[in-house]
Amino acid sequence: MRQFVVVGHEAPTTPEFSLDDLPGSGRLDVLCRCVVAGCLLSHSIRSAVRVHLVLDDAFTITVDSDEVRNLRPDERSTAALLRTALEHREEAIGHQPVQSSPGVTIRRTGLEHAIDTLAEEGTLVVLDEDGTPVDEHPPPSDPVFVLSDHLSFSDAERALLADRATATVSLGPEPLHADQAITVAHAALDTAGFDHGSP
Ligand SMILES: C[S@@+](CC[C@H](N)C(=O)[O-])C[C@H]1O[C@@H](n2cnc3c(N)ncnc32)[C@H](O)[C@@H]1O
Repeated sequence: MRQFVVVGHEAPTTPEFSLDDLPGSGRLDVLCRCVVAGCLLSHSIRSAVRVHLVLDDAFTITVDSDEVRNLRPDERSTAALLRTALEHREEAIGHQPVQSSPGVTIRRTGLEHAIDTLAEEGTLVVLDEDGTPVDEHPPPSDPVFVLSDHLSFSDAERALLADRATATVSLGPEPLHADQAITVAHAALDTAGFDHGSP
C-alpha cells in the first residue's frame, strides 16, 4: 500500500464551492490533481493507493484506488467527488469515516490525528525539497508520504511532522508541484530494484 497525505491549507470544508472555479476555491485544483496523480495511470488505475486530503485541518477526505468509481483524469469530476464527500460531513461523528461514494470517505480529522493513525499502517515520510536525497533511502515499506499543497508547511506542521516522521526525503533539487511530487514518488518506487534486463 502506498499512501499520500496532502495538507490543504486553504481548502474548503463545506460543499458550497464552485466547480467552475477550483483555483479560487482554496486551490482545490491542486488537491484534485493530487488525487489523480496518486490513483490513476494512463488508461488504468493503480492498485493499493490511498490519497488523503486534509482540509483546513478540520476534515480529511480519503480516496481509495481499489474501491473508487468514476474517478477520471479531469479536475472537475474529481472535485465533484470531493463535493459529494463534503455534503456528508455532518454524518461524520468523532473520527469515524463516512462513505460518500464508493472508495471515497470523509472523517472529522485534522493533520495530527490523520498521521498518528496512518503511522500505524506504514512508514511516515515527509516529502520536502530540502530533505535527504531519495536515492540515499531504501524504499520504505508501506510508505505514507506527507506533502503540502501550494503553500509551505507551517512551523507547527513542521514540528509535528519532525516528531512523527521516519524521514524527510527530497525527490530532487527542483521545487515541484504537489501532484508532480506524487508522480515522482510513484516512479521512484516503481523503479526501485527495477531490472532493465541484459543489454
Ligand atoms: C508546491 S510545493 C509547496 C510550495 C512551498 N513554497 C514549499 O516550498 O514548500 C508542494 C509540495 O510538494 C512536495 N515537493 C515539491 N518539490 C519537492 C521535491 N523536490 N522533493 C520532495 N518533495 C517536494 C513538498 O511536500 C511540497 O510541500
